Amino acid sequence: MQRVLIVHASRHGGTAGIAERIGEVLRSTGVDAVVARAADMPDPEGFDGCAVGAGVYMGSWVKEGTEFLDRYAPALARMPVWLFSSGPLPGSTKESKEPVDPIENALGPAEGPGSGGRRKVEELAARIHPRDHRVFQGAYDPNDSPKTIAERVVRMMPVSKGVLPTGDFREWPLVEDWARDSASQLRTAVAAG
Ligand SMILES: Cc1cc2nc3c(=O)[nH]c(=O)nc-3n(C[C@H](O)[C@H](O)[C@H](O)COP(=O)(O)O)c2cc1C
Repeated sequence: MQRVLIVHASRHGGTAGIAERIGEVLRSTGVDAVVARAADMPDPEGFDGCAVGAGVYMGSWVKEGTEFLDRYAPALARMPVWLFSSGPLPGSTKESKEPVDPIENALGPAEGPGSGGRRKVEELAARIHPRDHRVFQGAYDPNDSPKTIAERVVRMMPVSKGVLPTGDFREWPLVEDWARDSASQLRTAVAAG
C-alpha cells in the first residue's frame, strides 16, 4: 500500500481541515494517508509521497510550512510532492478584468515590493520540484482570536474591514478532485519506480 504524508501549517484550522479532507479522499482510494502538523516536523522519509499546505497571511505561508520544506528539502526532492496554499477570501482583492493568477492572488507578485513571501516558497519549490502548487480559497472567522501580533494589527486596520470577507469559502469539490488526481499521479510515479 502506498503511504502519503500530508503536512499542514495552519493558524486558524482552515488549512488543517483541507489537509484532513485530502487524507480522507486518499484513504478512500486505498492510499495509507497520515495527516500531521508542520510544527511537529514529521519526517517524510519512508513515505511514497508528500502533500504540504499552508495558510497565507500577508502574502507569506504560515512559517512552519516553509520551515518544514526547508528542513526536509533533500528527502522531499526524491519523492512526488504536492504543495497547496490556502488563502484567498473571495472579494478580498480588487476586481480585475484580467485573468487573475491564483498564486499571485494569494502570495503576491513574483518580484518587487511585497514579493518576499512568495519568493521564499518558490525558492524552496525550486529545491523540491513539486508536481503542483495549488491555491484553494480559505476561511475567516473574525470571532476566532488573532494568533500573532501582526495578525491582530492587520485585523484592527480600518482597511481590513472591507477586504477580509467573513465566512468559510473552502471549495471542497475542488479539494477532493485535486486529492484524487494526486493519488493517480502517485500510482503512476510508484509504478514507474
Ligand atoms: C490578517 C489576515 C491576512 C491574510 N492575508 C492573506 C493573504 O495575503 N493572501 C491570501 O490568500 N489570504 C490571506 N488571508 C486569508 C487566510 O489565508 C485564510 O483565512 C486561510 O483560510 C487561513 O488559513 P488557516 O485557517 O489554516 O490559518 C488573510 C487572513 C487574515 C485574517
